[in-house]
Amino acid sequence: MTLILGLESSCDDSAAALVTADRQILAQSLVGQNAAHQPFGGVVPEIAARAHAEILPDLIRQVLQDAKLSVRDVDAVAATAGPGLIGGVMVALLAGKGLALAAGKPLIAVNHLEGHALSPRLVDPDLGFPYLLLLVSGGHCQLLEVRGVGQYRRLATTIDDAAGEAFDKAAKLLGLGYPGGPAIEALAAQGRADAVPLPRPLVGSAEPHFSFAGLKSAVQRAVAAGEHRPQDIAASFQQAVVDCLLDRTVRALELTDAPALVVAGGVAANGAIRSALQALAQARGRRFVVPPAWLCTDNAAMIAWAGGERFAAGFTDGLDVPARARWPLDEGAEKVRGAGVKA
Ligand code: KG4
Ligand code: ZN
Repeated sequence: MTLILGLESSCDDSAAALVTADRQILAQSLVGQNAAHQPFGGVVPEIAARAHAEILPDLIRQVLQDAKLSVRDVDAVAATAGPGLIGGVMVALLAGKGLALAAGKPLIAVNHLEGHALSPRLVDPDLGFPYLLLLVSGGHCQLLEVRGVGQYRRLATTIDDAAGEAFDKAAKLLGLGYPGGPAIEALAAQGRADAVPLPRPLVGSAEPHFSFAGLKSAVQRAVAAGEHRPQDIAASFQQAVVDCLLDRTVRALELTDAPALVVAGGVAANGAIRSALQALAQARGRRFVVPPAWLCTDNAAMIAWAGGERFAAGFTDGLDVPARARWPLDEGAEKVRGAGVKA
C-alpha cells in the first residue's frame, strides 16, 4: 500500500504525518506555537520560521519511530511548498527535499490549500468529484468547485479579510488571545447573538464574494462604545459571520450542480458554522461533508493525503521546485477588485 510522509510548516504549526493510500494515518505529530506568538496577537513570521527549523526534524523522527519505519519505507515525501509565510514554508520544503534526495524517493510539492481542499476525502471514501468547497482559514476565504486533483474553479474569494482573520481581529479587539476563532466561539456560547446590531457585508450581492473588513470595524465601534457585554459582542459577531458565509454559499450553490457541499480550513472547526452549513446542504438536497475539527486546522495528515492523491495521479516534482508565498488553486481566476495578495 502506497505510503506518504507529509510535512507542514507554512504558518505556526510544525507537523509530520505518515498516511497510506487506503486512508490509514499510521502516525502523526504536531507542535503549535501559540504561546510564542500570543504576546504579539498574531503570527510573527521570523519567530515562526526559526521555531519550525528547531521543531520539525524531531517530529519527523517521532512519526517514523511511532510507525516503526524508516524513510526508506515510504513511497514519496510530500511537503507544503506554499502559500504561506515564506520563511516557514522553506523549512518543510527543504526538509522534504533533503529526505527525498537522501532516500532516493520522489518529492511532491503540495499546495497547502489543496491539502485543506482534499482533506475531506481522507475521512470520507464516498466523497467523489466534483464538490463545492467553502475553504475558510486564517488566510483564505473562497468558494471553489473541486473538479479533481489539481482542478479547481474559483467561484468566489474575499475582497478584503479572510474569515479566520476576521475572527482573529475581533478577538484581539475583545482582548482575547490568539488564535481568535476558538476564543470567540467559547465566549459566544455565553452571549446573545441578537444583542448587538452588526452589518453583513455583501449579503445579497449577485457575485458570491466575501467581505469582512466592515464587520471588523463595526465590532471595533461596539467595543469602544462600552455598552455591550463582551459575550454578546462575540455571539453577535459569530452570527454575522455565519450569515455571510451562508448567504454567499447559497449564491455559489446556484452556480454549480456539484452534488456535495464541503467545508474545510481552520474556521470549519467552528460549531455554529458547521451546523448552519449542514442545515443549508440538507435544505438544498446536497450531501454535506466536513472533516473533524483536528483535520480542519493545519496538520500534516492533510498534506500527506493530498501528496498521495497527487502521486496516484502521476504528479511528482523536481528538487528545484520553488517555495511560493502566493499560490492560488485556480491560477486562471480573475483578480477581484480590492483583493489582497493572498486571494
Ligand atoms: O487552516 P488554519 O489552521 O491555518 C491557516 O491555513 O490559516 O486556520 C487558522 C484560522 C485562524 O484564523 C483561527 O482563528 C481559525 O482558523 N479558527 C477558528 C476556529 N478554530 C480555528 N475560527 C472560528 N472558530 C473556531 N473554532
Ligand atoms: Zn491552513
